Amino acid sequence: MKINPVYLLLIIAIISSCTYQPPRTREDFDNNWEFFLGDDSSAKNPDYNDASWRTLNLPHDWSIEGKFDSSSPAKSDGGYLNGGVGWYRKTFSVSTSSKGKNIFIDFDGVYRLSKVWINGHFLGERPNGYISFRYDLTPYLNYGDKKNVIAVRVDNSQQPNSRWYSGSGIYRNVGLVTTNKIFVDQWGRFITTPKVNKDSATVDITIKVRNSDSTNANVTVKTSLLDKALKVVASTSSSIDINKNSVNETSQQMIVKNPTLWSLEKPYLYTAETQIISNGKILDEYSSPFGIRYYHFDADKGFFLNGEHVKLNGVCEHHDLGALGAASNKRAIQRQLEILKSMGCNAIRTSHNPPDPELLNLCDQMGFIVMDEAFDMWKRPKREYDYHLYWDEWHKKDLTDQILRDRNHPCVFIWSVGNEIPEQSAYVWSTDLPREQWPIDSNGKFIVKELVSIVRSLDTTRPITTANDHPDTSNVILQANALDITSFNYRNSQWQFEQERWGKKPFIATESASAFETRGHYDMPSDSIRRWPPDWSKPFTDGNPDHTCSSYDNYAASWGSTHEEALKLFLKNDWITGMFVWTGFDYIGEPTPYTWPSRSAYFGLIDLAGFPKDGYYLYQSVWTNKPVLHLLPHWNWNVGDTIDVWAYYNNADEVELFLNGKSLGAKSKTGDDLHVMWRIPYEPGTLKAVSRKDGKEVLTDSVKTAGAPSKIILIPDRNEIHADGKDLSFVTVRIEDANGVLVPNADNDVQFQIGGEGFIAGVDNGNQTSLESFKADHRKAFNGLCLAIIQSNGNKGDIQLNATSNGLQSATIVIKAK
Ligand code: GAL
Repeated sequence: MKINPVYLLLIIAIISSCTYQPPRTREDFDNNWEFFLGDDSSAKNPDYNDASWRTLNLPHDWSIEGKFDSSSPAKSDGGYLNGGVGWYRKTFSVSTSSKGKNIFIDFDGVYRLSKVWINGHFLGERPNGYISFRYDLTPYLNYGDKKNVIAVRVDNSQQPNSRWYSGSGIYRNVGLVTTNKIFVDQWGRFITTPKVNKDSATVDITIKVRNSDSTNANVTVKTSLLDKALKVVASTSSSIDINKNSVNETSQQMIVKNPTLWSLEKPYLYTAETQIISNGKILDEYSSPFGIRYYHFDADKGFFLNGEHVKLNGVCEHHDLGALGAASNKRAIQRQLEILKSMGCNAIRTSHNPPDPELLNLCDQMGFIVMDEAFDMWKRPKREYDYHLYWDEWHKKDLTDQILRDRNHPCVFIWSVGNEIPEQSAYVWSTDLPREQWPIDSNGKFIVKELVSIVRSLDTTRPITTANDHPDTSNVILQANALDITSFNYRNSQWQFEQERWGKKPFIATESASAFETRGHYDMPSDSIRRWPPDWSKPFTDGNPDHTCSSYDNYAASWGSTHEEALKLFLKNDWITGMFVWTGFDYIGEPTPYTWPSRSAYFGLIDLAGFPKDGYYLYQSVWTNKPVLHLLPHWNWNVGDTIDVWAYYNNADEVELFLNGKSLGAKSKTGDDLHVMWRIPYEPGTLKAVSRKDGKEVLTDSVKTAGAPSKIILIPDRNEIHADGKDLSFVTVRIEDANGVLVPNADNDVQFQIGGEGFIAGVDNGNQTSLESFKADHRKAFNGLCLAIIQSNGNKGDIQLNATSNGLQSATIVIKAK
């Protein structure tokens, strides 16, 4: 039989593609771990019997699964959720074909004091709960039938150790990386774009290659730059000698013609692909995205990206994901960023720690500017057991690793080496001594210089700052004159003095506002601003008995301001490069101004469940060009009440208000005000606002008086998700009256039944005082809304969600896992 040579070639191509082994792999190592909440030192031994432990998939946060505990050692800071000690074990096999390769385990983050063993051999420990780290498993592995056991002890028992909810456990992703003996070292490539204009960009790359073999080698290092369509736009190669068991580095330069720049509107990513080749064999293939952009900060005019003036419309974010706790989830982070983007936010401050790599990947792809922060304290403590205990031994390594890990992200624009660092003051605060006897320590001056020099030794392309709260010439850290940007948290009236005082550098408000809002709750009169605490020397007694905070932007921390106060300053002054609102989302812990049963923050523009509060629309009306008209409050009051009605709007000259069809007059913003207000007697019905420009209607918004709760409405943010065991659909649950109006005070308990290929990953309602578990199959609505988070179980198929509640019409939806 004669075989057509074309078919023969095809068959050979198919066979070789089936057996093709990429020189480097990264296996998702998140699934099938055994977990035990408690301590047992023998669990590190490979033959330990963990049959009674719970099997779970990472990322995992055990604290979020616990009960709120009023006597929790983590206190209100930690959201009254407990820490403790936990163990994780994973049994796995490695194929004999991997003999002769290097195998590493990469942890993106473990909170905290982790210790890791492989087959009983101790690999190391890492106190910092936010840092990423790797261990080399190669020397201790079994191949073929003989199993391997990784054991991880996580210790979050010393409390308090954080000023916010940290979560506990292996709460970020884990990967298993396999390479040849000669490979691009961990975080071993650095890409910069020193010269960029619209015609061309210079791309500089340094590549560290490790030779873990027992013979010296000469290799060719070939790098190609690919555009989005995977077309090679530049390539180069160089040759280096690397002695056995050592690392050598090569530098390459390429020109990209007519580059597409990375911007906030169009975050264009190129791919840099490096191959390590020896004797015609590809030993490693290392690929990652990068962006081409240029920017600078100016002390008078602010920030310029690719030559265009941009204000940093930023928010600070802690890392928890509401009902999911600290357990990282790409879709949950992406949803947060989508909600923020649609508010007009373009910048994130990763307060106050190294972020999840997933967040940085998403910010690269979605077009956010990131202030990447390292520490909340240095040598002096903020809480008894916080990182200050590990500072001396670990800060160099932790900061170095953070910069090496994050410096190729186009979204990272600014490094922050500290937040409100106590060393700003030369006086060491003490409760035991009178103020005049407080010890003096000016070490902050040296520490800041040391940290700046660590960052500069690894990256000279980004400015460095610290977020300060000590506005005074005695600020020891600023006296060192080591930072590129002067940044302050709050203290709005001092911003200009502080900028001038410290050599007139660019200025950023690293935290602004700190105002409190409970979604859907309103205290009148709306034009009287409450400050907390009213008096530091007296116990706090003037709060609302039900721990609500008014959503009229009329309740703020005394060290901060209302949102509108901060925004007015920001809008007027170009020298205020940007502001980072404290905070975008509510977070667990730090429930200022209240304590138990309040267990999560009131600061967010968006509640913990992801539902925007009214403040969200204030920013949207200022930070976006899309037409906005938002009317507040709801329209269920007592006849005869006097109600303050507000509207946030843009792109219009005036807003006219109508109650049951009758005009209550048109209003325009006066002076620098960012809202309009009517004070009117309540009458049930429909309140409608119409915004107009040049006499033409732009938008309308209305609120209606709701009747009794009648039905449940389910609104999934996505009807289709990936069947990958991780993807999520966030289902908003609305309690409506018979006419489809949201019932603004409904608190019906909603029961969920789930069937098919998914499970309920969490439930929430955004109520900061709710002590119901986030891990349940039911949730009370809060001010008319609650949320169910549905997660794929890894199989393809339909997921049915049914929601019922006593006396209400139930609802069912189907989500497809594909
Ligand atoms: C700041 C601090 C933040 C948060 C905030 C609340 O002082 O940096 O972490 O605590 O206050 O207003």
